Parts: sequence; structure tokens; C-alpha cells
Amino acid sequence: MNIDTVLERLNTYTPPEGWGGHIFLLPEAVMRDIYQLVIDKKLTNCIELGTGFGATSCVIAAAFDELGEGQLTTIDRYLHQPVNVQVLMQHVGLKADYLNVVADELGYNWHMADVLSNTPEEALEQYDFCLLDGAHEWEPDALAFQLVTKMLKPEAWLLVDDLDFNLRMIPDWQVSHGDYKDKELDSFQMRMVYDIMVKNSVDYENFDVTHNGRMGWAQKKPTKSWLQKWLCA
Ligand SMILES: C[S@@+](CC[C@H](N)C(=O)[O-])C[C@H]1O[C@@H](n2cnc3c(N)ncnc32)[C@H](O)[C@@H]1O
Repeated sequence: MNIDTVLERLNTYTPPEGWGGHIFLLPEAVMRDIYQLVIDKKLTNCIELGTGFGATSCVIAAAFDELGEGQLTTIDRYLHQPVNVQVLMQHVGLKADYLNVVADELGYNWHMADVLSNTPEEALEQYDFCLLDGAHEWEPDALAFQLVTKMLKPEAWLLVDDLDFNLRMIPDWQVSHGDYKDKELDSFQMRMVYDIMVKNSVDYENFDVTHNGRMGWAQKKPTKSWLQKWLCA
């Protein structure tokens, strides 16, 4: 399914009356970039940390549909109701098989801990692309980065959302985060994850910040040859 079709269909989705949300949690330009990257590099095994209502999952599934194969594991604490990824996939008319939808109330770090504990080491590096767009807080997401890095293939892409966001920007932050300290409210916590964890990691290269400072990209380095490993040892 081409990108214009999936976006057009998402735009025609009418949520149930009284639902006050908004299904698009990433700008259209970012979703177009993700779609194009999946197509161009044939990234057929992807992971999304933070499903939200599933608009970006549908865009990635549309790219798989165009490629003829692919699967996205998308993880959230909740299958949100009444609007969620399954509802949107059905609305846009994409096969449910393109997605492995995980709703784990303990969150993606506990889920990844289970996967890492139960997967043989040689099968761990399985994903070609990760969108990190969940908790938006330093502690869970610094760990999420470390865990997902173990599951990304050499040359896989990582995209971190909301480098330019802090919790104080939430319109009713007093309600949702009223017990947080000023430092937690005012820090750009995903920028910290990107600058401190991603950019300092020996596992990544090709760093780029796009969309007016919002999105942070990185690519996992290719596997080292035996000679490089020997020289680095
Ligand atoms: C901004 S939304 C994701 C948007 C989605 N990626 C998109 O592009 O449409 C963030 C989601 O992360 C989920 N979330 C927050 N913390 C989480 C955690 N620790 N584990 C799993 N999901 C989490 C929230 O429930 C919310 O649905």
C-alpha cells in the first residue's frame, strides 16, 4: 500500500463520539521518512517501543505490504480503548499478520528482559529498525536503548522521537506529573538518552538530528571482521 493511501485512510478514520484524542502522534513528514526508509532498505523486521494508537504501526505495515513481507513488533503498556492499533489496521485495510502487538502492563523493558532471557544468543540480533517513542523519561528509556541495542542487527536503524520535548510541555502536567521534581519536568529527557546513551555508544554511527531537532537517528555499526575484533581486543 503506498504512503499516500495509508495516510489518506488514516485521515478518514472517525473515532467514536466523545473520544478526545488524536491518532497522529508523529508528524506526517516523519511517518513518510520511516515509510521510505523501510522500503529503500527493505527493513522487514521492525520494533516500535510505544504503540500509542497505532498510526505509525499502520504506516510501517503499509510499507511491508508494498514490499510483500515484513513484521513489526509493537509494544505498549496498553491496548488503548476504544482507539488502538488493531482498530486502525482494520480501518486502513491491512493484514493483521504484519503486526505482533504486545500489550504488557509492566512496559517494554520487562517485555524485552523476558525476550532477552529466553532467546538463544545467536538469534538475539533480529530487528532492522527500532522506533523509540514510549515513556519519554530518562530512566526507562536509557534502559530501553540498552536492551533494544542487543536485539538490533548490525546496520539496523534506530529512531528516537521527541528530543525537543519535556514533561512541562504537557498541557495538564500538574495532573499527570505533579509530584515530579523541576529537574524531571524541565529536562529534555529523550535528548539526554540520545546524547548520553546513543551518541556515546561504541555500537552506533551515522548520527543525525532531523525535523527541527525532534528526531534523533543512528545506525548500528556493521559487524566487525575477525581482524578488527583482534585489533580492538
Ligand atoms: C507517544 S505514544 C506512541 C506513539 C506511536 N509511536 C505513534 O507514532 O503513533 C507513547 C506510548 O508509549 C506508551 N508507554 C509509555 N511508557 C511505556 C513503557 N514503559 N512501556 C510500554 N509502553 C509505554 C504509552 O502508553 C503510549 O501509548
